[in-house]
Amino acid sequence: MQTTLIILKPDAVQRGLMGRILARFEDKGLQVVGCKLMQISQDLAATHYEAHKSKPFYAGLVRFMTSSPVLVLAIRGNDAIAISRNMMGATFGSKANPGTIRGDFGVSNSFNLIHGSDSPEAAERELKLFFKDGGVLDWNRNADQWVYDMSGGKAE
Ligand code: RTP
Ligand code: MG
Repeated sequence: MQTTLIILKPDAVQRGLMGRILARFEDKGLQVVGCKLMQISQDLAATHYEAHKSKPFYAGLVRFMTSSPVLVLAIRGNDAIAISRNMMGATFGSKANPGTIRGDFGVSNSFNLIHGSDSPEAAERELKLFFKDGGVLDWNRNADQWVYDMSGGKAE
């Protein structure tokens, strides 16, 4: 099982899309193991996006991410990182395919609604950053026996 960090960005919260986007992850069969509404500080945004520090869009990105509350989620499942990235769609709303979150809910290239960890290493780092005081709950979901084929002794 993988756990990934998802952020519903300020535009998603302000536009009232939290429920509809979160529902997509639940509908898919992924499990919510952490959830909090928070205002991202300057420091946290800078650390989270430090890989983009030299990019021309960095200052605007940090301004956007700190401008209004976000919904931070820890999402768990088999292959949750790649599945979530596919559900999000391409970075730019103008390019993202229909059926994806960015493709269905937005047109902007910078206000693109959602962040998702892009690798296991990134997920580990980002979950530590955003849930450093705890808040990721390991809970048994009864539906798992119908979400996954467990007949082989592991989730398929
Ligand atoms: P994210 O990190 O937010 O999940 O998005 P991503 O992997 O799809 O895209 P990434 O390349 O990591 O870029 C991070 C965020 O920066 C903004 N961006 N703007 N104007 C531009 O050229 C540009 N490029 C990237 C987007 O908000 C993107 O999500
Ligand atoms: Mg990224």
